[in-house]
Amino acid sequence: MGVGGRSLKTRRRTIATVFGLTAFVAVTVAGILIHDTYVIPPHANATCPFPVKAGANESQCLQVGCIWAPRSDAPSCYFPSASSHGYTISDAFPDAGAEGGDGGTEGGGRGKKDAEAGKTSEGITKYTLKLKPSSAQVVENMKETLQAEVIEYADHLFRIKVTVPGEQRYEVPVPLDLPAPSSPPSPLYKVSLEQSGNFIIKVTRNDTNKVIFDTSIGGFTYAEQFLQVSTGLPSNNLYGLGEHAHESFRHDLAYKTWPMFARDQPPGSAGENLYGVHPMYVVVEEDGSSHAVLWLNSNAMEAETMPLPGLTLRSIGGIIDLFFFLGPSPEQVVAQYTSVIGRPFLPPYWSLGFQLCRYGYNSLENLTSAVSRTRRHGIPQDVQYADIDHMDRRLDFTYDKENFAGLPEYIRQVKSDGLRFIIILDPAINAELPAGEYPVHEAGIANDVYITWPEGQAPDENFGAGDVMLGYVWPDNRTAFPDFFREKTKEWWKEQIVDFHKILEFDGLWIDMNEPANFGTNLDKPWNWPEGQDPWSLKCPENKWDSPPYPTMMIRVGDNQSKKISDHTICMSGNQTDGTKTYLHYDVHSLYGLTETIATYNGLTEVFPNKRPVVLSRSTFPGSGKYAVHWLGDNAADWKQMHMSIIGMFDFNMFGLPMVGADVCGFFNEPDLEMCARWMQVGAFYPFSRNHNTMGTADQDPGIWPEVGEISREVLTLRYKYLPFLYSLFHKSHMHGNSVIRPLLNEFPADVPARDVDDQFLWGSGLMVAPVITQGATSREVYFPQGLWYDLVYAKLVATGPTTQTVSAPLEIIPVYVRGGYILPYQVPALNTVESRKNPFGLTVALDELMIALGEIFWDDGEALEHVMSESYMSKLAYYQEELTMTVMHGQDVVAGINLETIDILGFPKDAQRISVNGADITSSSWQYDADARLLSIYISVPLADDLNIKIYYDNGL
Ligand code: GLC
Repeated sequence: MGVGGRSLKTRRRTIATVFGLTAFVAVTVAGILIHDTYVIPPHANATCPFPVKAGANESQCLQVGCIWAPRSDAPSCYFPSASSHGYTISDAFPDAGAEGGDGGTEGGGRGKKDAEAGKTSEGITKYTLKLKPSSAQVVENMKETLQAEVIEYADHLFRIKVTVPGEQRYEVPVPLDLPAPSSPPSPLYKVSLEQSGNFIIKVTRNDTNKVIFDTSIGGFTYAEQFLQVSTGLPSNNLYGLGEHAHESFRHDLAYKTWPMFARDQPPGSAGENLYGVHPMYVVVEEDGSSHAVLWLNSNAMEAETMPLPGLTLRSIGGIIDLFFFLGPSPEQVVAQYTSVIGRPFLPPYWSLGFQLCRYGYNSLENLTSAVSRTRRHGIPQDVQYADIDHMDRRLDFTYDKENFAGLPEYIRQVKSDGLRFIIILDPAINAELPAGEYPVHEAGIANDVYITWPEGQAPDENFGAGDVMLGYVWPDNRTAFPDFFREKTKEWWKEQIVDFHKILEFDGLWIDMNEPANFGTNLDKPWNWPEGQDPWSLKCPENKWDSPPYPTMMIRVGDNQSKKISDHTICMSGNQTDGTKTYLHYDVHSLYGLTETIATYNGLTEVFPNKRPVVLSRSTFPGSGKYAVHWLGDNAADWKQMHMSIIGMFDFNMFGLPMVGADVCGFFNEPDLEMCARWMQVGAFYPFSRNHNTMGTADQDPGIWPEVGEISREVLTLRYKYLPFLYSLFHKSHMHGNSVIRPLLNEFPADVPARDVDDQFLWGSGLMVAPVITQGATSREVYFPQGLWYDLVYAKLVATGPTTQTVSAPLEIIPVYVRGGYILPYQVPALNTVESRKNPFGLTVALDELMIALGEIFWDDGEALEHVMSESYMSKLAYYQEELTMTVMHGQDVVAGINLETIDILGFPKDAQRISVNGADITSSSWQYDADARLLSIYISVPLADDLNIKIYYDNGL
């Protein structure tokens, strides 16, 4: 081999160590690159997405300056490496002429390329970049000059922002909570840029010296409508990126491409881009340290994994704006991420109850039957929904006075029984009803609330709508789409909500179809176009926005019949405005759901002053978690989708939207008894637990089958019992940004097998659910990580981890475990939370090997907005062996009148001899010891608002 020898081997080893490769083979095939310093086979580089579009062929590949390296098991066309492709750090820097530059007075100077040299102010370092003449030109209009800024905020947080000097490119107008830039005292990271002058970003974790981000593998590309960053990853443990239906939580790195662009697309298995966009990923490094990277961008994007291991991120607009969160624990990563995008909202207590919905009750009678069936089976329920079939001709803010006659009275009646009611709203507003028939739209026109065509570009025939862009969704006429960036739209929306609440006293709002969805875009006619009418559909013009040079993978996955990025939605050339700036829909499309969420949240605060609103949104973006509940969309009654719902929950907990769940028993298709029973069981542990299905399918509410009814009653009763624990986790998430639902790896990041477990999940740290999600199974393997694990229902020690055990789980059983070391607060359950909140509390105390357990409870009135930020409702519970003491400490104002009555201590070694509560002995009939189960149960009655000190005396052999 021509390029063998000692020094090459050493250099290869360096690269291999950086990315954890075991061997690097020098192959003398066509396309091999001789780098400045080492040899990298092209298949380690970012793939060249052109001409992937047309199916790679050698001449197309070479024509754009990429490298042709045919392989049967991988793509064949690759970017050159960063030594010949991309940008150099310009000698003439800091660039006094660059827009946004500070003039380069501090520390600058010709020829200096290290980070310190470019420091322009405390915490900010700027570089001017120049395009290399040899760069691949995958699209036209590569930017000649760029400005890169490294902005440091904290030891764990920095940002790399790359803009085009002199150009006002679109930047995501979503506010972030960022500290002021400053040089952090002890950063966990080092950012180094290549000394050779190539613009290569390398980020090293200081304590392990691991390179966690490295763009030397090529693909730093910045063109008008094509931006790309490609990085090696420090391990194969890649998670995140959304919204998609991921079949495994840990990513497959075999060149999988995941498009990201909000889309009305049910979860499938082809890697389709779904309803929301979350361009962030998390990597768990080999030693368990973890980090996340967010590319804040709302244009159409895609992420492509690479076996190197590596990842390429692409966007077709905006700027490159990367945020790094250094953790190091996975939970710290989530907390750091949500501190920037916004902490999750604290859901009102009632919204943690079970919820029932369907599309196609079609009458109030059918809806009330479902509620009665649920009640008859003793199944707890807190929320009932009405879908679009309750509306008059599917018009927002109306109800069908024939089929749903009496709905307002019914809502009032169920509310007096403790139930809550949520109704649906779609953004698309019927724009074609005769004058006087639909005041909602008339007020919309009067207030100029809609998305418009660019000036002078409305179609000749626009059906009297002026420059408003028309589409077609659920109503029988063309619809207009509110632009929730406009102040006037927010006001108008709020007024509709307030006015309609005077008619239907809903408690929360479900905002659907807010990608925004449009049917039949660019096709002959929508699938539901009224029969007999001349075919019509919204047709997007040919321009660089509606037909961008690189439309991303989205045009090749899912039901994209028109092969355009406007498929299933409105035209990219549409105009939106916040009053000062005009936005192209092309740029802000994926923010539609977030902007509608905020407008709806504000509308609800008007209706319910000082109460926490419930807004259930289908489309989400970073920041949505501050306001929204999310469900995982139109899934199907299918075992695989039941599994994917767990992964979806992990993803959204990582994305800062912990109040999440899937349609229980599946939306499309019909589940059988077994599937629905199993789904009710796993769904009983979704934070957002709602059974929902589609039009034309058989009813699937749990009372339909007596057996499912019984199983649901049991499992939901268990959920209701532990709602105080779930609620406390949400408070913690709201205050500190933690996840609520956790994959095992969040608690055990260094545990290698735990990194692949995605069919079990945790509530916080202390409760583990191992649902049966396989047809016909009556047992399953459960992985128990390190520690003691007790069966929650039988209160018995079942495993000392790490270990894998087969556990029995006949149809009526869902295996649920408490982890030694944790205290779970509970409350005697009831049929809804209005009732359960009046009941006595208990504590499940699961001892660890050292006989220690810790826990906490947050308790307030369950809905007031003003309590939300307070820590004073938090009580710490702790049991220590040494002192044999349990202390319950309270803040002020804990809601009075509720007693703590039972304390179950799991794993207690022997019967107590004496127990004192706040200094006074209790009688021996006040406790019970089950030697077999090693369970000590103490019965007391202490107001929850009082401090509590329990001493347990027993012969501990000392
Ligand atoms: C969409 C929603 C679904 C809803 C239906 C009718 O498909 O995702 O949940 O039932 O529209 O409103």
